[in-house]
Amino acid sequence: MKVTLSVIKADIGGWVGHSDSHPEVLAKAEEMMARAKKEGTLIDYHVTKCGDDAQLIMTHNHGEENELIHKLSWDTFLACTEVAKKLKLHGAGQDLLSDAFSGNVKGMGPGVAECEIEERGAESIIIFMADKTSSGAWNLPLYKIFADPFNTIGLVIAGNMHTGFAFEVHDVKEHKKVTFNCPEEIYDLLVFIGAPSRFCIKSVYHRDSGEIAAVSSTQKLSLMAGRYVGKDDPVCIVRAQGHFPAVGEVLEPFAHPFYVEGWMRGSHMGPLMPVSVPDATPSRFDGPPRVTSLGFQLAGGKLIGPKDMFDDISFENARAEANLMADIMRQHGPFEPHRLPLDEMEYTTMPQVVDKLKDRFEILED
Ligand code: F6R
Ligand code: MG
Ligand code: MG
Repeated sequence: MKVTLSVIKADIGGWVGHSDSHPEVLAKAEEMMARAKKEGTLIDYHVTKCGDDAQLIMTHNHGEENELIHKLSWDTFLACTEVAKKLKLHGAGQDLLSDAFSGNVKGMGPGVAECEIEERGAESIIIFMADKTSSGAWNLPLYKIFADPFNTIGLVIAGNMHTGFAFEVHDVKEHKKVTFNCPEEIYDLLVFIGAPSRFCIKSVYHRDSGEIAAVSSTQKLSLMAGRYVGKDDPVCIVRAQGHFPAVGEVLEPFAHPFYVEGWMRGSHMGPLMPVSVPDATPSRFDGPPRVTSLGFQLAGGKLIGPKDMFDDISFENARAEANLMADIMRQHGPFEPHRLPLDEMEYTTMPQVVDKLKDRFEILED
């Protein structure tokens, strides 16, 4: 049976500041999703949040980039924005960049990860959601899951994975894409994905079967809107078990936090901390950045779950390590590498300061 899994998310207002989502906003989303399920548009859904981002996890039979599903998400976010405005939440409707829906939410602000799959006998799915970071944050974990035998022993000892995986990489600045066949091309792949602010892994495919193994949202709000209006706070769908990595191999990259961009004012590096959904409330210096993971089994498109995968004591060391890494970064204050390089910052006063001081700059003699 073919089923489409769509994860569509937007920041439609923070409670308080940019730290969390308000229950009334999520209740509105729940109400809209329940109606769509009753009317038969959706097979199933789950509404959740990661920090100030509302997440719609939906299953249906309409395929990817379907207007009906995208319109449903858009209308849901609009209805949620009304609630957010009534409560005067911070940045109500901030990710809805357009006034009119034009057939697809891509390019309109919300983040989208979708895949149409042939549901297997047992279809284990992990959905990662992050706040205070951007799409390139998935590069390191996706590389580890699908190309690093030190993370995924299945690549070595499971015959059905030994041929490897293909990675589709997007250049978000030049708007180009390229596919790398791994393991042969891991060095070429790393040249690009090691620069995650520009090159993002969009999807991963099982090379023998050609099946989709993972898909991420790669919208860069800053570039779409022609100016910085917020980081995209990305999502990623990963299929697990069988000829895909085991659930434990999919989660393992998060056992050691790594630095990502997007902390305070979208302009700082910070550790990506794996947390349960209730702990996805970035507060310290508006962070540190968080990642949650919900697991589901699909049963005829029904979402059997969620299982909150980071709600596990085995990730406590990772959280402690992330807090330590956050302390170390904070000691740099306004200096790089905590602060992002000038061209990556969401906020910058550089042009105004340069303008103010333009008459005071003197040419250096050799
Ligand atoms: C980071 C983030 C926050 C805000 C900050 C200022 O991605 O969302 O750190 O940038 O709280 O928010 P505004 O400009 O909305 O007052
Ligand atoms: Mg926000
Ligand atoms: Mg957010």
